[in-house]
Amino acid sequence: MSKKADYTKTALQYNKRYRDTQFEKYRIMLSGLNLSGKILDHGCGTGLLSEFLKRDDLVGCDSSAGMLKVRGSGDLTNVEKLPYEDNQFDRVLSFSVLMNCKNPEKAILEIKRVLKPKGTIVCTFLKAFESKLKPMIAKNFTVKLETTCGEDTGLILEPKSVKQY
Ligand SMILES: C[S@@+](CC[C@H](N)C(=O)[O-])C[C@H]1O[C@@H](n2cnc3c(N)ncnc32)[C@H](O)[C@@H]1O
Repeated sequence: MSKKADYTKTALQYNKRYRDTQFEKYRIMLSGLNLSGKILDHGCGTGLLSEFLKRDDLVGCDSSAGMLKVRGSGDLTNVEKLPYEDNQFDRVLSFSVLMNCKNPEKAILEIKRVLKPKGTIVCTFLKAFESKLKPMIAKNFTVKLETTCGEDTGLILEPKSVKQY
């Protein structure tokens, strides 16, 4: 699936089809990670991540009204232009989203803008998109961990520190 319309069409089947696959990615990427503070569920879809974490305080955003309807709440938006102020989030969790973006570089720059300077990003994308997405990501963030995450590549990232002179 890659088009936003597809997600709306299949929103009602999404959880049944993908819960186990996505839960495995969350387990691999999030076990032992500090998830304190304000969290953005970036491309939250139907809200499987909230269900996995048993948390109802994640800020969710997605471009599919159908997926958000299943989730029950969230901001209907394109992640290439987020409706949040700068330095808002302690963590941005982006599971299987960047590869769907028309302009992933814009989405990456938006993550950088809304993340606090000491924040953490977790992102995954299909392995086939690695050569396209990794250079864009590495230009903007320090890669703290890279791992195989089911069908995806999973990355834990931090903002590049700005040297003070
Ligand atoms: C494979 S689903 C993953 C959903 C969720 N992160 C999960 O773990 O189940 C991809 C999601 O990204 C959303 N998406 C794709 N492109 C987007 C964009 N440019 N802006 C916002 N959401 C987008 C889709 O609507 C869909 O809900």
